[in-house]
Amino acid sequence: MIFSDSTSSFVNYYKRHGFAATSRRTMLYLQRLFLFPRMVLFYCDLTSPSFITATKNESNDVSVERKTRENDIDPQDLQRIVNFWNPKVFRRHLPERFQRGASLWLIRSAGQLAGYGWTLKGGTIEPHYFMLGSNDVHLFDFLVFPEYRGRKLNPALVGEILRQMAAENRSRAYIECAEWNQPQLNSLKKTGFQLLGVARKQHLLGQTFVRWENPELQLETRQTVVSAKADR
Ligand SMILES: CC(C)(COP(=O)(O)OP(=O)(O)OC[C@H]1O[C@@H](n2cnc3c(N)ncnc32)[C@H](O)[C@@H]1OP(=O)(O)O)[C@@H](O)C(=O)NCCC(=O)NCCS
Repeated sequence: MIFSDSTSSFVNYYKRHGFAATSRRTMLYLQRLFLFPRMVLFYCDLTSPSFITATKNESNDVSVERKTRENDIDPQDLQRIVNFWNPKVFRRHLPERFQRGASLWLIRSAGQLAGYGWTLKGGTIEPHYFMLGSNDVHLFDFLVFPEYRGRKLNPALVGEILRQMAAENRSRAYIECAEWNQPQLNSLKKTGFQLLGVARKQHLLGQTFVRWENPELQLETRQTVVSAKADR
C-alpha cells in the first residue's frame, strides 16, 4: 500500500512539475526512506496551564474550525485540500480517518482556507513510537498552503487545538516531525509542545521497530510516559 501510494504520488508530481524536479524528489525520497529519518517527538502536558500563554493567538483575522465528518466540509475547501498532495491517497484517507474518530481542523485567514491538521484521541493512525493513553491526543499531518507560510498560522492552529483539547480534559498531546523539516521544527517552537526525544521507526513483516537515538532522552521518555499514565 505504501509503495502504491508513493508511486501515484510521484506520477501526480511528474504531471505537475516535469522530469527534472521529479528525479530530484525521487532521490530525496529514497534517501529519506532508506536512512529511516530521525524523527523529533514532542509532547504537551494539557493539564499544565503554562502552555496556554505560549500558544496565545494574537491575530483577529484567523479562525479555526473542527470537522468530524466529511459532509461538514465545504466542497471548495475539500477540493483545495484533496488536490494539494495526492487526490487518490487523500480521498482514501478521509473516510478512514473520520471512521476512526479523527478530527480535521481547518485554519482560515481573512475567511480563506489557509491550512489544516488532524487529531486522533487515544491512539495513532499509523503504528507509533509508543502507546498513547486513552485520554491522550495525537496531532498529525499539518499543512499550511504555500502562499500562507511564514505567518505563524501553523502555531496558531496547533495552539487552538491544544487549548480545545485542554478544555475537553485531555491529558497529553503528542506530535512528531522529521528532523530535516526545519520549517515545522521552527513552527513547533512557537507552540506549547516540548521535546520528548529523537527516534527512528521502521515497519518490517508487520512489526514496528523503534530505536531511540539518545539514551538520556529514552530514559526521560519512558519516565514521562509512565508518569503521565500514572497521573490519569
Ligand atoms: C511546516 C509548516 C506547517 C509551517 O507552517 P507556517 O504557518 O508557515 O509556520 P510558521 O509561520 O511558524 O513558520 C515556520 C518556519 O517556516 C519557514 N518559513 C518562513 N516563511 C516561509 C515561506 N514563505 N515559505 C516556506 N517556509 C517559510 C521558516 O523557517 C519559519 O521559521 P521562522 O519563523 O523561525 O523563521 C508549513 O511550512 C508546511 O505546510 N510545510 C509542508 C508540510 C509539512 O511539512 N507539514 C509538517 C509535517 S506534518
